[in-house]
Amino acid sequence: MRHLLNPLDFSVEETERLLELATDIEQNLPKYSHVCDGKKLATLFYEPSTRTRLSFESAMLSLGGSVLGFSSANSSSATKGESVSDTIRMISCYADITAMRHPKEGAALVASNAAKIPVINAGDGGHQHPTQTLTDLMTIRSLTGRLDNMTIGLCGDLKFGRTVHSLIEAMVRYPGIRFYLISPDELRIPGYIRQDVLEANNIEYKEVNNLDDAMPQLDILYMTRVQKERFFNEEDYIRLKDCYILDKKKMKLAKEDMFVLHPLPRVNEISTEVDDDPRAAYFRQAQYGVYVRMALIMTLLEVEKPC
Ligand code: NCD
Repeated sequence: MRHLLNPLDFSVEETERLLELATDIEQNLPKYSHVCDGKKLATLFYEPSTRTRLSFESAMLSLGGSVLGFSSANSSSATKGESVSDTIRMISCYADITAMRHPKEGAALVASNAAKIPVINAGDGGHQHPTQTLTDLMTIRSLTGRLDNMTIGLCGDLKFGRTVHSLIEAMVRYPGIRFYLISPDELRIPGYIRQDVLEANNIEYKEVNNLDDAMPQLDILYMTRVQKERFFNEEDYIRLKDCYILDKKKMKLAKEDMFVLHPLPRVNEISTEVDDDPRAAYFRQAQYGVYVRMALIMTLLEVEKPC
């Protein structure tokens, strides 16, 4: 039985197979409408979510399966003090697969140790968010036709932004990837990513504060929200929250074929005036999230691709 806790749980070849399946699903959606008949997905969300939870539910429903679950810790027995391990043992009796989001780093790993069904990490604190990464990879591949030889700018909250951590871990496995890590000093990428991922793999990267200077070099700009819920001190959040705002003026500095991604939700970091720019890809990205999650559910449940 397999889980997806970290993007590295799938090799480059397995990731490629999954992205190919997701692309086939995108192109032939009706063909997949009964492949998970009778199967159940449990969504256990101890933290807020719109896209991730609903795209998982939409994905399972589009495969013919059904969904159950909770969308806040307050409506689960967590408020009574039940542990993640105990909850997941129960859920293993009620569903065939589960997607879990939790505010604590490592919660999905703890769940996977007690589970009798595949566990998908739908975000564990400020740590990892592997299904967002699969979404990001499908978006980049669909827009540019490749996952190698490009310069990616990651901008905003690189300290707490779990989508950034997962995307870096996945992308360093492709040749010719360079990063611009654009953040205020207080929100720099964690040391473990710098040392164990970037330096350990000899990846070319620059840490900078200024978005304008980096802009002309980028093939992909990945904007992120300052992660309010992970700050200890509201004053720090207020000081840092609007540190980068992508607007039309900044977009003029970018290549004609650069794409802007954002895992969403956006707060102020992308001005709505950018939404009409053909290079703004964040809403398309959210759509790809459904196809990759369909492909992921099929892969973990070992459902055959229909002919
Ligand atoms: C991201 C997350 O939850 O980490 N959202 C998402 O799943 N699309 C990004 C964020 O909340 O800023």
